Amino acid sequence: MTKERVYIFDTTLRDGEQAAGAGMTPDEKLEIARRLELLGVDIIEAGFAASSPGDFQAVQNIAREVRKPTIASLARAVPRDVDMAWEALKGAAQPRIHVFLSSSDIHIMHQLRKNREEVIEQAVAMVKRARGYCEDVEFSPMDATRTRPEYLYILLQAVIDAGATTVNIPDTVGYAIPEEFAALLRGIQENVANIHKARLSVHCHNDLGLAVANSLAAIKVGARQVEGCINGIGERAGNAALEEIILSLHTRRDFFGFTTGIDTTQIFRLSRLVSDITGMPVQPNKAIVGLNAFRHASGIHQDGVIKERTTYEIMDPRSIGWPGSALVLGKLSGRAGLRARLEDLGYKLTQEELDRVFEEFKLLADKKREVTDEDLEALMAEHRRATVETITYRLEHVQVSCGDHEIPTATVSLRGPEDRLYVDAATGNGPVDAVYKAINRIVGVPSKLVEFNIRSITETTEAVGDVTIRIEKDGKLYTGRGTSTDIIVASAKAYMNALNRLLAMQDVATQAKSG
Ligand code: KIV
Ligand code: ZN
Repeated sequence: MTKERVYIFDTTLRDGEQAAGAGMTPDEKLEIARRLELLGVDIIEAGFAASSPGDFQAVQNIAREVRKPTIASLARAVPRDVDMAWEALKGAAQPRIHVFLSSSDIHIMHQLRKNREEVIEQAVAMVKRARGYCEDVEFSPMDATRTRPEYLYILLQAVIDAGATTVNIPDTVGYAIPEEFAALLRGIQENVANIHKARLSVHCHNDLGLAVANSLAAIKVGARQVEGCINGIGERAGNAALEEIILSLHTRRDFFGFTTGIDTTQIFRLSRLVSDITGMPVQPNKAIVGLNAFRHASGIHQDGVIKERTTYEIMDPRSIGWPGSALVLGKLSGRAGLRARLEDLGYKLTQEELDRVFEEFKLLADKKREVTDEDLEALMAEHRRATVETITYRLEHVQVSCGDHEIPTATVSLRGPEDRLYVDAATGNGPVDAVYKAINRIVGVPSKLVEFNIRSITETTEAVGDVTIRIEKDGKLYTGRGTSTDIIVASAKAYMNALNRLLAMQDVATQAKSG
């Protein structure tokens, strides 16, 4: 018997990016979109084209370059947004305009300051406008779970009549409880006469920690599209974690009975890429992709797993592309050993890339006796950051002098535009402060450091330090990450990463204004 399909809609690049400080450059979004295509998602929501020049460019690039999945852009139910969504999407192989408008009384009265009839008229008009551009139109009644069901039915019927091909039920504020959400979905199917003409979708937020449970409850009673973000990132407490929904559907196929088009072996790598680009760490106990998700600590569990893996493992870690046994490399390891281990971790490198990474690996192996998989992941993340196109300034050297009787002083040299070398020095109230001040003297873009986190990648004193920072400029947050066995160098790299991102995003905005 052929199983029915559930369609996977990824919104990491739109709702995921709304997580505080998770801003991504258009190039970074394209990189994630390419990996989402490999994962096999059906729809990628590439951005909200009318919201900023950077989003417009990201949607346009992804629409042109990522051909297999449907590419969607979000649009408020206003003509300018719908028109801009289409403008950005028109190069896509399969474009979708996603129109949204609030439907709950709380939003209609306090935010829109309209009446219910006006909202229906506006939604219908904008769905029709979107259909004038493309055949695939999704409509979302925002705050659906706090909307009076009888009104929701009328609104949905009207937008389907107007041409919506997918109707999405968002639990915008993460308010729903699984049984109640399932009942709402059942009510929609029983009371919206033309519901069979559209695909029913759900989009859940995680304010009560129920986003995945609500999504699964909805699928069980008839939703056939589910929206979410990798690692569950997103506005406030985040969106439903897509990897958790996917693995629930796969692992409990006996219960759900659905298929997806997903290649689950891509999940682990994609999770790390999203974490690396957004600077949102994955907590160790996170389901599916956390570092402890497949680690057995208790003796009884270890004994069971050694005898028979399924005693305590409901999923095979290899099914999500988990790198497997932690083979440790060291300074005597050669290129072939490094290549083999990186391939196990999911990285396919050209000879030229391997040569560069090998040099970095040798430097690390000289400082650390054992180079673990976690170190290699950090090395590859550093390599990725060093080779993206949007770098204006590169850190060449950093040197600090500090101690309990010294004024912390830093000298930095940066390679800047047109390959010019800039050198400057500064003092500060600590070595990191001195480094950041010296960098500021060169780059000349003042910003405020609002977050600084350092963690050790492995447990020893010779471990690699992983620094994540956020800087704020003009009310916007920019994330930076850097790794090194020297925490001052890691801090400098993280700052350069955040500054380059800030400059790249400002650049997109300036180009858009002058263009
Ligand atoms: O949470 C929400 O309501 C949304 C809509 C725009 C779909 O993200
Ligand atoms: Zn949302």
